Amino acid sequence: MGIIINNCRRCNTCNLVLCPAGNVKKAAENGKCFECGACTLACPYKAIKLDKSRREKVRVTVDGKPVKVAGLVKDALEAAGIDVGKSPESTIFMPCECGGCWACAVKIDGKLALSCITPLSEGMEIKTKIKSPLRAISGFGAHMVGGVGTPYYLKESIRPIEVVGFTHGCNLRCPQCQNYRIAFTAKAPLLEPKETAKILLGLESIYITGTITFSGGECTLNKEWLLETMQRIKRERKVNIHIDTNGTILNPKYIDQLVKKGMTQIGIDLKALKTRTFQRITGIRDEKIAKEYLKNSWSATEYITNNYEEEVYLGVGIPYNKKLITIKEVKRMGEKIRKINPEIQVCVLDYRPEFRRQIIKRPSFNEMIQIKKLLNNEGLRTVIVQTTHGHIGP
Ligand code: FES
Repeated sequence: MGIIINNCRRCNTCNLVLCPAGNVKKAAENGKCFECGACTLACPYKAIKLDKSRREKVRVTVDGKPVKVAGLVKDALEAAGIDVGKSPESTIFMPCECGGCWACAVKIDGKLALSCITPLSEGMEIKTKIKSPLRAISGFGAHMVGGVGTPYYLKESIRPIEVVGFTHGCNLRCPQCQNYRIAFTAKAPLLEPKETAKILLGLESIYITGTITFSGGECTLNKEWLLETMQRIKRERKVNIHIDTNGTILNPKYIDQLVKKGMTQIGIDLKALKTRTFQRITGIRDEKIAKEYLKNSWSATEYITNNYEEEVYLGVGIPYNKKLITIKEVKRMGEKIRKINPEIQVCVLDYRPEFRRQIIKRPSFNEMIQIKKLLNNEGLRTVIVQTTHGHIGP
């Protein structure tokens, strides 16, 4: 009971999951699975299925309130009447559900723990009113190309243009995720802002790029951690800080805070215009959440343009693959961006077979050039397309 593994291809991705039983495969064999579901999110072959067993209820307290419930800490929070969810407005924001972001941290018997994957046990005292000082982050290094928010005039450099850290955990479930080993896993150094800032500043001293980038996964999920890390960087050195994001949980207040803590570049990956397309691309089944996320990413684009044109370099991403989005919708996205500001840098990303969506074909070079022409004709002045022959654009 717990999980069933069928047709495992031994890619080992499940070994990167923070399995509360210690090891996904052993948990499947010996029935010790706690049914958190993290491994089912990460497995690229959908080889792991949850098989919910009847767990015994235990007595725990949540902020002093007694509840009797079975399962994980998140079940106890819900049983205590706390709003737990994927909306950033939730009392306990639980966006990744894989142990990567630490946004859902609580204290259990005085120790920090994750409500999304921690199994309940008798007598636990759970406290929710805490700040999470940790985040799983890996892949520190220097990059030559950058991302959607990297200014086009830096992209052709022959030396590294930014140093980067990849935060684990993502609130989206994109079946064609290009970075699933970061987005759905958590086995990585768990770092406080101070340690993270030190590593990134150390790398920046070596490569002298002038820019530090937070990418992921989704770097905005654990707000306190990100803002404090940025503040520590800014306090030490005057560098550009680049936020590479899907923009789905940004709001004006959060954007103001990011700018105040030193954000100078942002790349927002706009996934679609229509909710159904957004759901197809991101794998978000809940229509209400999909609508909220999509609205937030477009509103963030507009808000930054209207309020921080001078301080922040803004780039936006547009997806393209004919199986996922129509040319008509891409055109309408272009129109909408042009109305916000025709000068916004637009990067069109050629969605290729990755992760669970292996049946799509990477768009051809010619298709991508056609998309570039289409968007240029819409009045967008800076359009870069990602192609089989590298980036094409100004
Ligand atoms: S939601 Fe629990 S770690 Fe991200």
